[in-house]
Amino acid sequence: MTAAANKAWPYPRWIAHRGAGKLAPENTLAAFRLGASHGYRMFECDVKLSADGVPFLLHDATLDRTSNGQGLAAELSWDELSRLDAGSWHSPAYAGEPLASLEAVAHYCLDNALALNIEIKPTPCSESLTGTVVANAAARLWADAPQDSLPLLSSFQADALEAARVAQVHLPRGLLLNTLQAGWLENALKLGCVAVVCNYTQWDALSVQQAQSAGLKVLSYTVNEASAALRLRALGTDGIITDRVDLFSPSS
Ligand code: G3P
Ligand code: MG
Repeated sequence: MTAAANKAWPYPRWIAHRGAGKLAPENTLAAFRLGASHGYRMFECDVKLSADGVPFLLHDATLDRTSNGQGLAAELSWDELSRLDAGSWHSPAYAGEPLASLEAVAHYCLDNALALNIEIKPTPCSESLTGTVVANAAARLWADAPQDSLPLLSSFQADALEAARVAQVHLPRGLLLNTLQAGWLENALKLGCVAVVCNYTQWDALSVQQAQSAGLKVLSYTVNEASAALRLRALGTDGIITDRVDLFSPSS
């Protein structure tokens, strides 16, 4: 068991996916505000880099689905990105909502005592750079926060997690997985992770026990049905990422 994995788990069980799931434009501050209004105290978001190296929130590599921009987001400067409308695609009520920088989200979370799961979501071919820059930015933004208030960094990209570890070893990390493929536990431990965050359908009694016995927390995404949440609770898992901030009470 790693020293990092041994530490107490400071995060809430319930985590609002992309701010408030599908109820608000994903990965915007408006979504965080809506998730918080439903009582959520922890948020997941996707972070990548602008052309000039500014970490900001966006799930896709391209702008088309969730903004009025087009093409690869990584080809625009933050100044250009910050002038886009990331709300109208969702609904008229959110027209004009901007893309969020990691810095703005960090201030929002720190000001409101909210926890954050930063999914490092690199534009392809920028995995290590994104891991390094996001970790350094998070360390700077949370410089005055106690260890138990630091953001959890996660990624599907081992190179991004490794770069984050090299840059800021004190920031907790989680390995994101679509499946529990051969070597999943060894890979998580090798990366010095404190958690494995996997597609919820993959967990069973044996895999949960293997992770927890190795000192790792067990988290799941994206859980939107009560039956799935009940199963994960019965398995003794530690965290649930959901779109359904309107269905699940974060105090349950
Ligand atoms: O971090 C959990 C989840 O967000 C991973 O999948 O595609 O929604 O970023 P995705
Ligand atoms: Mg994500």
